[in-house]
Parts: sequence; C-alpha cells; structure tokens
Amino acid sequence: MKTQYDDEAFFSAYGRMERSQGGLEASGEWSTLKPLIPSVEGRHVLDLGCGYGWHSAFFAQKGAASVTAVDSSGCMLAVAREKFPDRNIDFIQEDILGYRYPVDGFDLVFSNLALHYIEDLDKVYALIHRTLKRQGQLLFTIEHPVYTAGIRQEFKKDEDGLFWPVQGYFRPSVRDTSFLGCSVRKVHHTLSQILEPLIALSFHLDAVREVMPDEAFLEAHPELESELERPMMLIVKATKENLLEKGL
Ligand SMILES: C[S@@+](CC[C@H](N)C(=O)[O-])C[C@H]1O[C@@H](n2cnc3c(N)ncnc32)[C@H](O)[C@@H]1O
Repeated sequence: MKTQYDDEAFFSAYGRMERSQGGLEASGEWSTLKPLIPSVEGRHVLDLGCGYGWHSAFFAQKGAASVTAVDSSGCMLAVAREKFPDRNIDFIQEDILGYRYPVDGFDLVFSNLALHYIEDLDKVYALIHRTLKRQGQLLFTIEHPVYTAGIRQEFKKDEDGLFWPVQGYFRPSVRDTSFLGCSVRKVHHTLSQILEPLIALSFHLDAVREVMPDEAFLEAHPELESELERPMMLIVKATKENLLEKGL
C-alpha cells in the first residue's frame, strides 16, 4: 500500500531536509530527547515509524539485543535498509496499527514523530502496553497539540509580529496541512488525549517535555528564532507499572 511518504514529491522534499541528510545530530529535538533514552544494552527495542532508521541504528550501536523497526512506507524503509544494512535491525513494512505486537516482547517502545499520523491513539497505547515487559518503557515524540491545531501549520505576521493561529483546539480531527510544500494529512489530538490514556493504563509518567530550541541551536540556526514562538514537539516518557508490586 502506498502511503503519503511514498508520494514522489513529498518523499524527495523530505530527503532534502537537514535531518534527512544529517541524521540525529541535525534533528532539533535530539538534544532534549537523547538524555531521556534509557540504556538499551541487552534490551529488546521496538521503533514505531522508524523512517530512515536513524534511531534504530543508534539503539543497535548502543548494544540492544534486538531492534525491530516498523514503518508503513516502502520508500522510507528502502532508504533505511540501504543506510544500515549491516546493523542487526529487523525492518518491517507494516502500519503501526497493523503490526502484530508480541505479548511481553519489548523493553523499550520508541517512536519519533510518527504518532501524529495516527487517529486512534488509545488503540496504539493499548498495543504498546501489551507488548512491553514489566517495567518496560515507552518513549515518544509527537507534534505538539498547539502545533497540530495551527491553521495549515503556518505562521502569520501582522503589526503585532509573528503569531501561530490555532483553530479548533478542542475539535481533535484529521487535518490537511502544508508540509514541505505538499499537502500532508496529520491528526490533531489535544494534550489530554495524548496523556490521559497512558495514566488510565497505569503507565507512570516519567517525563513530559516541550522541545525548545536551546542557545546552541539558535546560534547555528538564527533563521529559526521563530521556533521560540510556539512549541512544535512534545516528548513523553512512561514506564509500564508493575501492578502486582503495587498490590493491585
Ligand atoms: C516524520 S517521519 C519520522 C521518521 C523517524 N522516526 C525519524 O524520526 O527520523 C514519520 C514516519 O512515520 C511513518 N508513518 C506514518 N504513519 C505511519 C503508520 N500509520 N504506520 C507506520 N508508519 C507510519 C512514515 O512513513 C515516516 O517514515
């Protein structure tokens, strides 16, 4: 099945992005995300929406016992397989909702910037909960609800300066946005919708971070000063609680 990442114009525009060329160090969220990554040595890791496989390769290089990397796009996976042929990574072409999650299969479920393409977050969380071992961890980034609620995901400018118009924040829905000059379909979820189901599943929330460009980033990219006007990404880290140990 062809996905929007397999669309020729979008796939080639994505390939020209700095993060696509430079990998993790060229990704704006990496400096906030990296310190939250637990030790993966000897652990089984699942990477949902792995794209080019940068994070999967990082986990493999850090000594993960296995890395399973799932993505629905054949084009993205072709790049991943070409980039990282020799690492012990099992690349699987499958939808995040269609993948057959093994029960108690993973110590870490990771996802970077893929979950805002999913309408039924509750279902993904339930699948992740089932596939995590006891005390297993979930670490993901998702486009921030303020960002996904932005009209066409574009800044506007008037006499008050630059601003990010938000529409229908409390109307979670599929939205057609403009990304890299292409029309791309994403899903707006409210902050409560992103966090509450995790609490309902008895996940312990370890971290909730809004990615903010730091000084070093702004020095290297002065043209991205506008990133201080609104959050673009949210990072969530959670641990599957052991209900038996809690006496429940
Ligand atoms: C913005 S890219 C991020 C790629 C990678 N995680 C990274 O950070 O470099 C989003 C990825 O999610 C994948 N994706 C989107 N929706 C998906 C779905 N429903 N199932 C599987 N993969 C999906 C896309 O094909 C794309 O590779």
